[in-house]
Amino acid sequence: MSSHIRITPSILNADRGFIDNEIARIAGVSDFIHLDIMDNHFVPNLTWDLDAARKIIQGANVPIDAHLMIADVDEIAVSYAQAGSASVTFHVEAARDIKATAQAIRKAGARAAFALKPSSSIDSYVDELNYVDMVLIMTVEPGFGGQSFMDSMLPKIQQTRKLIGDRPIWLQVDGGISLETIERAADAGADTFVAGSAVFRADDPAAMVQALRAAVDSN
Ligand code: DX5
Ligand code: ZN
Repeated sequence: MSSHIRITPSILNADRGFIDNEIARIAGVSDFIHLDIMDNHFVPNLTWDLDAARKIIQGANVPIDAHLMIADVDEIAVSYAQAGSASVTFHVEAARDIKATAQAIRKAGARAAFALKPSSSIDSYVDELNYVDMVLIMTVEPGFGGQSFMDSMLPKIQQTRKLIGDRPIWLQVDGGISLETIERAADAGADTFVAGSAVFRADDPAAMVQALRAAVDSN
């Protein structure tokens, strides 16, 4: 797992009653586990709160990539870094001060990232690229797993890749990533791939993670 491609499976649609087991099934083949935090305000769905997230983060032997779909995220974001997440992503639509929030996350020892909903353009956040380690382009409306990949996001992925230039900023896509769509996202410039239902609906989730990696990893 030393290439420039990263597969970050989402456990949103894994079996919540047995989350440690679900993580263990894919731990050895995943770069990070993607943890979707939803507050029932920013998105119409509710998942784990900070205490529940902390238990998952501390119990997992894989780095956690926390994706915060939380309103008024500025103050709480750092708590997910302090809880031990390796990476913390917050939405631009929910943040008042992207620079300060990203800096607080980094200071707490995690990678910082911002996410864009499908309706948000990268144009307004070009300066903020200077403060993050990753950008997440949502390829579905955030809130639920199992939706279809939006091909209309491909130009935004290409544009963001261009704006990143030669900076070491990862470009993540999230939503509808499967063996059928992952190559299109990679061709547009994504290098970090969330996959939820594609992995956990597969008979062999670990084999699916490896198949997704093989589909886009040319090294
Ligand atoms: C959606 C979440 C995703 C979700 C992806 O709001 O951010 O991470 O788990 O699920 P799939 O891969 O099924 O689209
Ligand atoms: Zn997500």
